[in-house]
Amino acid sequence: MVGPNPHRVARTRGTVRTANLRDLDLLVRHRRLMWSAIARISPKELDAADRVYRRWARARLKTGRLAAFIVEVRGEPVASGCVWLMDVQPRPQRSGTTAAYLLSMFTEPGHRGEGHATRIVREAVRWSRARGIAVMLLHASPFGERVYSQLGFTHTAEMRKDLRHGARRRVRTSGKRSHRAER
Ligand SMILES: CC(C)(COP(=O)(O)OP(=O)(O)OC[C@H]1O[C@@H](n2cnc3c(N)ncnc32)[C@H](O)[C@@H]1OP(=O)(O)O)[C@@H](O)C(=O)NCCC(=O)NCCS
Repeated sequence: MVGPNPHRVARTRGTVRTANLRDLDLLVRHRRLMWSAIARISPKELDAADRVYRRWARARLKTGRLAAFIVEVRGEPVASGCVWLMDVQPRPQRSGTTAAYLLSMFTEPGHRGEGHATRIVREAVRWSRARGIAVMLLHASPFGERVYSQLGFTHTAEMRKDLRHGARRRVRTSGKRSHRAER
């Protein structure tokens, strides 16, 4: 189990702390709210996804492959985000075969625009750098895009194909980019 948080950082607008297993309810709730904000998903599908995510996140929090950061304002959690250490293939000019993947970014609507997501991304970057990770990946929602670009994230040439259906079926898109990314 991930122990009590050794990494509490006092801020003028609340505190950022690393999460532990006791925070799983919050992390699952924030992830569900994130999906509700960015995609049309039925409550039944969200319930099912919550159960799967809880198991997935618990296992990885225990092994340290997943870290989560929570911002609290006056003792209340108002934002969170996670970073997952993901296996990737080796490639020239990059050391190691682990990438940091940023996911599950969510700020309560009443606390948006206060810099919480920005602080979480910075913590996630610090946490990943301290573990020697050379690259951080993410899929940005329209809400998140500005936060990430301001912090130096750039677009890649990633492509995708949905393999569940006939060969010619396209992934549903909104505008130019698909919004069915894995967050
Ligand atoms: C994306 C999200 C996490 C950003 O959270 P946040 O805590 O509001 O982000 P920040 O306060 O760090 O905002 C960073 C920038 O975006 C602006 N911004 C973000 N949301 C804003 C809002 N609702 N009102 C005003 N400005 C906002 C900030 O002003 C800031 O820009 P600035 O530095 O030029 O002032 C939040 O909007 C959210 O939870 N959205 C729904 C779920 C989602 O899309 N998650 C991301 C998945 S990739």
